[in-house]
Amino acid sequence: MPYKTQTGQALNFGAMERQLLAWFRRNMRPLPWRGHYSPYGVWISEIMLQQTQMERGVSFYLAWMQRFPDLASLARAQEEEVLKAWEGLGYYSRARNILKAARIIMERHHGVFPSSLEEIRALPGVGPYTAAAIASIAFEEDVACIDANVERVVSRLAALDLCVRERAGREAVAELAGAFLQRGCGRDHNQAMMELGALVCGKNPDCPACPLRDYCLAHKRNTVHLRPVLPQRQERIPISVASGVLVHNSRIYVQKRLPKDVWGGLWEFPGGGMEENEQPEATVVREFFEETGFRVQVVDKLALIRHSYTKYHITLHCFALELASASGECDFPAPPHLCEASEFRWLTLEELADYAMPSAHRKLANMLTLANGRLYTTSSGGLPKLPLA
Ligand code: ADE
Repeated sequence: MPYKTQTGQALNFGAMERQLLAWFRRNMRPLPWRGHYSPYGVWISEIMLQQTQMERGVSFYLAWMQRFPDLASLARAQEEEVLKAWEGLGYYSRARNILKAARIIMERHHGVFPSSLEEIRALPGVGPYTAAAIASIAFEEDVACIDANVERVVSRLAALDLCVRERAGREAVAELAGAFLQRGCGRDHNQAMMELGALVCGKNPDCPACPLRDYCLAHKRNTVHLRPVLPQRQERIPISVASGVLVHNSRIYVQKRLPKDVWGGLWEFPGGGMEENEQPEATVVREFFEETGFRVQVVDKLALIRHSYTKYHITLHCFALELASASGECDFPAPPHLCEASEFRWLTLEELADYAMPSAHRKLANMLTLANGRLYTTSSGGLPKLPLA
């Protein structure tokens, strides 16, 4: 029996499933977790791929599996190591949740990845999408998973004229995705839908290459580019921030962000948002004092780094700093008060590479060269230039 859309159009999901799976067998990418589909590998890949391009996800996945080849090795790791392995992927709560979940599986599930949708969903950091992806791809359950790819594919197939971020639209997408999945096909169907959404039915669709073109109602009505219906895009908010690299006795000061903060547990150069009419040099001196109690002075400008996060465009003004007053006898003084961080370190430049940092700070760290106690910035891959201190 063909499925009837809300506007009474028939969709023959049985026939479409055969076309979709045949296309998937011919076109699937050889991803490293495909093949034997271990629950651990599927889980890590799905968490990594959220908000991450496939190519990048694959390279992080391969490095991760070298570092933490199984649940037991992950559960034994320190949070610090896990954050370092995650550095560059962003959304660091995902890494912290992965570690928590690995420990729960070792303790409560005796090291065996749970197989029921309910138990998978109960793990930290596992939402409805990830639970469905693991249950279907690793355990072959017939449960449809809905990500942005699937949302796009089914909205177009059914020419859905409802905003997919609103309740009625979300429910319609869930109903369509569930009705499309044919019994016994969970593993390949879900992967095929995501693959089709990524390779063919993308933002710029390649309809001539689509195995479902003849069934697609949006294609028939020439509305493919209008589906899915999405809310108006929110503009990213521009933010100006100043941060400083404090050098003292050839070491660099860094501090670890508080667990409750964004980027909690990551290391950074202190700094903060510029106030109205404030010059970045003044911001960095003020922020350093507020956060650490250190009186610092600006030695030179280091760099201007722009970085986009989901909601914000950050412009980061970076400065080389030194302590403004003598630090007494101590080679590596402790900050008089540390109120925005849980720990501090004085590191060599080489050591800095081992500490997980937010992306904009990592960009800055990677540009630095320290020679004879002086900071230099390095153009990408080139020789040091610009003596700064
Ligand atoms: N994107 C996220 N998960 C995926 C998967 N399992 N296959 C293809 N694309 C994906």
